[in-house]
Amino acid sequence: MKLANSRVLLTGASGGIGKEVAFELAARGAEVLLSGRRATALDNIASSIVHLGGKARVLTCDLTEPSAAENLIARATEDGLRLDAVVNCAGVSHFGLFENMSRPQLDAIWQTNVTAPMQLASAALRPFKAQRSGLIVNVGSIFGSIGFPCFTAYSASKFALRGFSEALRRELAGSGVGVLYVAPRYTRTPINEGATSRMAEAVSMKQDEPQTVARIIVDAMQAQRRERYLGWPERFFVKLNAVFPRLVDKGLREQGERMRPFALSQTLN
Ligand SMILES: NC(=O)c1ccc[n+]([C@@H]2O[C@H](COP(=O)([O-])OP(=O)(O)OC[C@H]3O[C@@H](n4cnc5c(N)ncnc54)[C@H](OP(=O)(O)O)[C@@H]3O)[C@@H](O)[C@H]2O)c1
Repeated sequence: MKLANSRVLLTGASGGIGKEVAFELAARGAEVLLSGRRATALDNIASSIVHLGGKARVLTCDLTEPSAAENLIARATEDGLRLDAVVNCAGVSHFGLFENMSRPQLDAIWQTNVTAPMQLASAALRPFKAQRSGLIVNVGSIFGSIGFPCFTAYSASKFALRGFSEALRRELAGSGVGVLYVAPRYTRTPINEGATSRMAEAVSMKQDEPQTVARIIVDAMQAQRRERYLGWPERFFVKLNAVFPRLVDKGLREQGERMRPFALSQTLN
C-alpha cells in the first residue's frame, strides 16, 4: 500500500512493538491513529511524532469492552474521514503452566488477541469494501504456528488469529481489501518482562529489537505481502512443524523441561 498521506489505525500503539510501528508509519507519511488504554503514554508518542513533523491522533480504548472495536472504527472514520489500514498490534501473553491459568486470564487473552482483531476487521470492512481498498494487518507470533509449551493459551490465540487472517484473505479475494499476517519471534518488549525474559535468557532464545520488527511490519504493508514470518531458524521450524511435527515435539520436550522452573516461579509470584 501507499503510506504517504494514508490514515492508519494502530492498536497496541503504547506497547514495545506498537510504538515503533507508529514512528515507522509516521516517518513514511501516514497519519497514525494511536490506540491503547494508557492515555499518557499515547499522548507522549503522539507529541514525539508531531515534533518530528508527522501526524498522529490518540484514540484510547480498552479492547476487552464489548463495543470497543465498533466505537474505535466509528471514531477513526468520523466526519467521513477515510481509513486506509487497521493494524491489530495489541496483545497480551501468559507464560506459565496452563493448569494454573484463571478464567479471567484466559478471557483477557482471547478477547484481546482474537475477538478484538476480528471485531475491528469486521467494523473496518464496511468502509474498506465501499472504497474498494484497505489493509487489515494482524500481528501474530511464531507461536501461532508452533504450539509452544508454557505459552499454551497464547499459542492457541495466535493460531486462531492466523487462521482468521488466512480465511478472511481468501474471502476478500478480488475485493480490493488485503489481509497481512505478521509473525514476530521473541522481541525485547514489556510483554516479556519478569520470568519470561529470565527464561528466554536461560534457554538462549533468539531475540529481536522492536525497531527491527516494526520496520519489517511496515515494509510488508508497503510491499502488499500476505504473510511475513520473522527470524531464522524460526521460519524453518514453522515449516518443519507443519510437515514433521514429531521432530519438533522432540526438540520442544527438552526445551519445555528447561522452561518449566521459570513457568512455575511465575505461578508462585
Ligand atoms: N514481544 C514479543 O516477544 C512478541 C513476539 C511475537 C508477537 N508479539 C505480538 O506483538 C504484539 C505487540 O506486543 P508487544 O511486545 O509490543 O507487547 P507490549 O509491549 O506488552 O504491548 C502490548 C500493547 O497491547 C495493548 N493492550 C493490551 N491489552 C489491551 C486492551 N485490553 N485494550 C487495548 N489495548 C491493550 C497495550 O496497551 P495499554 O497497555 O496502553 O493498554 C500495549 O500497547 C502483540 O500482539 C504480541 O502478541 C510479541
